[in-house]
Amino acid sequence: MLNGEKKIARPLRWGMVGGGRLGQVGYKHRIGALRDNTAFQLVAGAFDIDPARGKDFGVNIGVAEERCYPDYKTMFAEEAKREDGLEVVSIATPNGTHYEICKAALHAGLHVICEKPLFFTTDEVREIKALAEEKGKIIGVTYGFSGNQMMLQMRAMVEKGEIGDVRVVDLQYTHGFNANDDGDKINAAQKWRIDPKVAGPSYVLGDLSTHTYYMSQLIMPQMKIKKLLCDRQSFISTRAPLEDNAYVLMHYENGAVGRLWTSSIDAGCMDGHRIRIVGSKASLEWWDSKPNELKYEIQGQPIQTLIRSMPYLDDSCNADERLGALHVEGLSEAWANIYLKFAIAIDAKNRGDEETLQNLVYPNIDAGLEGVRWVENCVRSADKGADWVDFE
Ligand code: NAI
Repeated sequence: MLNGEKKIARPLRWGMVGGGRLGQVGYKHRIGALRDNTAFQLVAGAFDIDPARGKDFGVNIGVAEERCYPDYKTMFAEEAKREDGLEVVSIATPNGTHYEICKAALHAGLHVICEKPLFFTTDEVREIKALAEEKGKIIGVTYGFSGNQMMLQMRAMVEKGEIGDVRVVDLQYTHGFNANDDGDKINAAQKWRIDPKVAGPSYVLGDLSTHTYYMSQLIMPQMKIKKLLCDRQSFISTRAPLEDNAYVLMHYENGAVGRLWTSSIDAGCMDGHRIRIVGSKASLEWWDSKPNELKYEIQGQPIQTLIRSMPYLDDSCNADERLGALHVEGLSEAWANIYLKFAIAIDAKNRGDEETLQNLVYPNIDAGLEGVRWVENCVRSADKGADWVDFE
């Protein structure tokens, strides 16, 4: 169980690019990083594409005025001159900026925590992975939901054979917030998401399904996709060529099959994020809208609901427990869990502690690579007219 006591010698000096006043995801980063004030300390930021607004915002959240920078290049250059300069930076800007900012951060000697989808192409990820290795730096990827400890419970149960052999993987991440064409009323965060120059080669596949795909890989690291078929649509035609709905069918190397539905036009849907793993003996099912519960359904027996924090759960799951039974945890705790692991990974990297790094389960550069690879393969299949393709 976690209680905020330090896991590393001292908090890391942390900064942000993006995630400013109007940014959707920025506060989630701060909730995650600053939950344990023993892990990160927010000391600098280039929070906004609008420098004045970024400075005003930074000062309002307690960052020293002189360390609220007009842009990331100035921040990296100025912080490098300080003895107490930045050690790690989070990138919470639109997709199309991640690659350049990440590269600049590594060249500035910083560890990086970056939003998903990491970059546009797997070639870019491989290049940045090599650069990070050369510089001795960590790259973490904020698959925030994956910090929910029930993922580790599912992972342990699958590994111990408690559901038997995995046969079916059923994934869904849908919502209905873009069911209508917003025309001129479209907000900035939505506008860039349907612009291929900023969003990349996909909309909902990258924006939503990369989370759920990573979570499935976290639960079942042994399950490798062999082939997939993706069918994608733009129900609001102005979004083309980017999709607002997609279905993916998967064949795994071990003979299991899977499907994933991702959509932003699932009208009225308020709880469309779900993972169901069907084994030969039993099934597991988790819903993002009920993050404290895990359904365990053994064929022929009454359905069980496993509840977060209870002693019958696996040690790996309860190690990430924060509030204890009877109290509800959610997305904030999930983000705090992954940020704490980023801090532990960075500290281990700094100390050359490869053993800790090998044993730490967290979304690292390989998880980011896998997400971009997933999108690349889905788009390749969809562009062939929804044909089966080998998972390259
Ligand atoms: P947004 O458009 O709401 O916010 C972007 C922020 O970045 C704004 O504050 C903007 O001023 C700032 N910005 C843009 N370019 C900048 C630059 N060059 N330098 C400094 N600041 C800059 O976007 P949103 O929705 O917050 O998404 C940002 C990233 O986070 C995307 O990659 C998205 O896919 C990801 N995301 C991840 C989520 C998760 O659960 N992990 C949830 C939502 C978004």
